[in-house]
Amino acid sequence: MASGEFQPLQGMSDIYAPEIYLWRMIEARARDLFARYGYEELRTPSLEKLSVFKRSIGDTTDVVQKEMYAFEDRGGREIALRPEGTAGTIRHLAGRGAEGLNARVFYIAPMFRCERPQAGRKRQFHQVGVEDTGEPNPLADAECIALQQHLLEEWGLTGSNIQISTRGMPSDRQAVADGLRNALQPYLGELCDDCQRRINENVLRVIDCKNEMCQKIVDRIPSAVDFMSDESRQYLETVIQSLENMGIKADVNPKLVRGLDYYVHTVWEITHDALGAQNAIAGGGRYEIALGKKAIPGVGFAMGMERVITSLEACGITAGQFAPKGGIWLVSLGEEAVAENMKLARELRGKGIRCSMELEAKSMKAQMRKADSAGAEKVIIRGEDEIEKQTLTIKDMGQGTQEEIQLSNLWKILD
Ligand code: HAM
Repeated sequence: MASGEFQPLQGMSDIYAPEIYLWRMIEARARDLFARYGYEELRTPSLEKLSVFKRSIGDTTDVVQKEMYAFEDRGGREIALRPEGTAGTIRHLAGRGAEGLNARVFYIAPMFRCERPQAGRKRQFHQVGVEDTGEPNPLADAECIALQQHLLEEWGLTGSNIQISTRGMPSDRQAVADGLRNALQPYLGELCDDCQRRINENVLRVIDCKNEMCQKIVDRIPSAVDFMSDESRQYLETVIQSLENMGIKADVNPKLVRGLDYYVHTVWEITHDALGAQNAIAGGGRYEIALGKKAIPGVGFAMGMERVITSLEACGITAGQFAPKGGIWLVSLGEEAVAENMKLARELRGKGIRCSMELEAKSMKAQMRKADSAGAEKVIIRGEDEIEKQTLTIKDMGQGTQEEIQLSNLWKILD
């Protein structure tokens, strides 16, 4: 069988030791911090009705139009693998009535986007995210960004940068779209084919276009924020002031357009220099999502865990630092010792001690080599003699010293 047969699908990865220890550190520290901010964990299914994503993320977005794994199930129902966590979270909270309108939840979960794979862009990736529902309040947005910064600190990640902007209120939408369309009119023929379509469909996407010519044109026209109401601009100003008050620096980038339609008011992105073209480790913002009759307002963010890991590694933080170390290795000389050591291993593990052994009586040299490569702190050696005398030899691998002791004294040494 060709080795490719054992690979996961393109754009997807198996995650295993030692890298998994970095993932576990990230998850454990996130859970711990979220609890301090009053967030509860939420686990929603990976599959949702397609309409959940269409109605929240938006029909004309790239995520919905081009990137979703959407299909019909056996009953002909249109379903999709979640491309992000906010839509499913709001679908869940909408079902919880009043409680859902004032909730703080977090998730750590795989997401799926059928994008063209490249460095930093995967088809299955993982997000750690939060959603804080409640009426719009710039201080809630600032607190959410502060939580995100705090999380980066807990992980030990330095060198990231926050860019912030506003999408304005829903009542600004028409003025912004008209203003941008008018400003782009003189350059219509110079825009790329996609943008010629976007200008009518979703003009904000032109601002976001990666095409060099489109970017040059966007640099020449006023920004979306220039067409917004004073109220929207004041809202962003209050968020920035509150961040400053907490000692958090955010750069205003009026060209920041998040590719999801549910945003209102504050939007932000966190980038890291260690990443290439796909340099966003996190995105967030305030939103309003109406899946039922009533729109649910909230604010939240999601961090791309793969990109966080790449950035951590660039900061010199590696999986090896979090791999379990130490513990005891039991060396058995003879079949009887194997059986006795299995009993001893059970006792040691029962007392919370990490402990391993070979389940067959291999040579002493082979067993010692295993103990060494496993990084055991201590090795216990037992043969027929020791078992008869109820003794054991204990070797300190760090110091290279060893002594024979009574089995009954082992617990005193290990305490
Ligand atoms: P997003 O900006 O689409 O926002 O994704 C958040 C983060 O997920 C990105 O900054 C990136 O780190 C990571 N990410 C996205 N796509 C990929 C990919 N194909 N491969 C690897 N990493 C990726 C959201 O998803 C919003 N739901 C965030 C949010 C929560 N807004 C409010 N609440």
